[in-house]
Amino acid sequence: MAKLTKLEDIVSLCKRRGFIFQSSEIYGGLASCYDYGPLGVELKRNVRNEWWKSTVQMRDDIVGLDCSIFMHPLVWKASGHADKFADLIVECKKCNVRSRVDHLARHAQEHTAHVSIETAQKDAQNLSNKVCPACGTVGKFTEPMPFRLMFETQMGANVDDSMTIFLRPETAQGIFVNFRNVLDTTRVKVPFGIAQIGKSFRNEVTTKAFIFRTREFEQAEIEFFCAPGTDEQWYEHWKEVRFKWYLDLENLRLRQHEKDELAHYAKACVDVEYKFPFGSGDWQELEGIANRTDFDLRQHQKGMRTLNAWYEKKGDLSKIELNSEAEDYEKGPLSFFDEQTGKRFIPYVIEPSAGIDRSSLAFLVDAYDEDEVKGEKRNLLRFHPAIAPIKAAVFPLVKKDGMPEIAVKIYDNLKKYFTCFYDEKGAVGRRYRRQDEAGTPFCITVDGQTKEDNTVTVRERDSMKQERVNLSQVKQYLREKLDL
Ligand code: GAP
Repeated sequence: MAKLTKLEDIVSLCKRRGFIFQSSEIYGGLASCYDYGPLGVELKRNVRNEWWKSTVQMRDDIVGLDCSIFMHPLVWKASGHADKFADLIVECKKCNVRSRVDHLARHAQEHTAHVSIETAQKDAQNLSNKVCPACGTVGKFTEPMPFRLMFETQMGANVDDSMTIFLRPETAQGIFVNFRNVLDTTRVKVPFGIAQIGKSFRNEVTTKAFIFRTREFEQAEIEFFCAPGTDEQWYEHWKEVRFKWYLDLENLRLRQHEKDELAHYAKACVDVEYKFPFGSGDWQELEGIANRTDFDLRQHQKGMRTLNAWYEKKGDLSKIELNSEAEDYEKGPLSFFDEQTGKRFIPYVIEPSAGIDRSSLAFLVDAYDEDEVKGEKRNLLRFHPAIAPIKAAVFPLVKKDGMPEIAVKIYDNLKKYFTCFYDEKGAVGRRYRRQDEAGTPFCITVDGQTKEDNTVTVRERDSMKQERVNLSQVKQYLREKLDL
């Protein structure tokens, strides 16, 4: 297989075939924001659906949730994001571009992946040999400064009651603050999980790399609540389950985080990584699986008790300390009573946190291939059928002799069950190529023989093999081959 070596090839295919466009392109584009076109929206929907199916539909111990993006500002004080969710940045004195300290190379040849927090802090003390990733200038930076990653906006029309709120930087907090609601309204019992897919927003300092790191993106997160002491076993479980989910991809690995890389809430974290074709072709995070301990639920118990202070300080989070007066946390509102053991505790949380956009990019990159057909280059996307944007295309061989009428009938019938595409324009070979490039697993062609024996050809994308299938069997044939 001719695998991708340059991200530009996938960016160009995505633009050419309507997978992904630059946002506001006719206005010159908006940095790091992207729109999904007709094929891209189907791909992303399939990735989302596959995640939901394996996480919620197929498991009896996980329920779904869909929280609002705007949340009470105290949520972000309690979660730690209001105070700690910042990158250390510097500005290049030559080109004025700002970069994360941990994204600065130590010299021109070095790549910048996986610099630990400790190293970044040490690096920040000595910037003399660091290279600006934008212009290549060495050692000409401002003093490092913290840069808050959460977007702020104002809610409310009146000056008196308007308040600063944040666009959520992760979907996880919506799950934690609904933990009690879900417990009280369903039959779930610890151990169980809550899953959510939704948009998150971060004012990332370094973007680039197409949809890999953007300022608006979609996350698919599970918060799995378990009894303290069973967390390590569930952590192992989730590592295995999530790694398997991606297994159709090549170039995948699990990487344990070093202690100094861990987020403020995590006891342990492992990344599922993919070898993306950018930077120096290095391994990059696709999904993080963290042991968040009981940190978040405890924090929200403090946050709930800080409301009075929040009103007193007119919502100024910088002037508020969380209320951590002595409290029997284990008996608090976000605790769980285990009827079997007779014990009450604050559950521990294992969190597999994936990115829908980032995994869509990995699926695109992984599916990309080039081969040669009769001396001509063929571009194709070897998507797994479950995520292919179009499952089957239907063609009449020529636009006459009653072939279009039969093809339209097949198309109208199949589209009730699969995402299909009808095409009668141009040479059939070119129509096959277009579908190969869109990653369509099967093409069905009505030809001269169809009228004689009621059969059509079904062509498979990867092998390009053709089979004759009876008209009455086409739907069942696709069902079996697509496993849908
Ligand atoms: N709740 C934990 C959390 O948010 P994270 O490692 O910051 O952890 C989880 O994010 C996943 O979300 C990442 O592995 C990635 O797939 C996706 N993600 C995070 N930031 C992103 C960004 N700026 N653009 C695209 N995807 C992003």
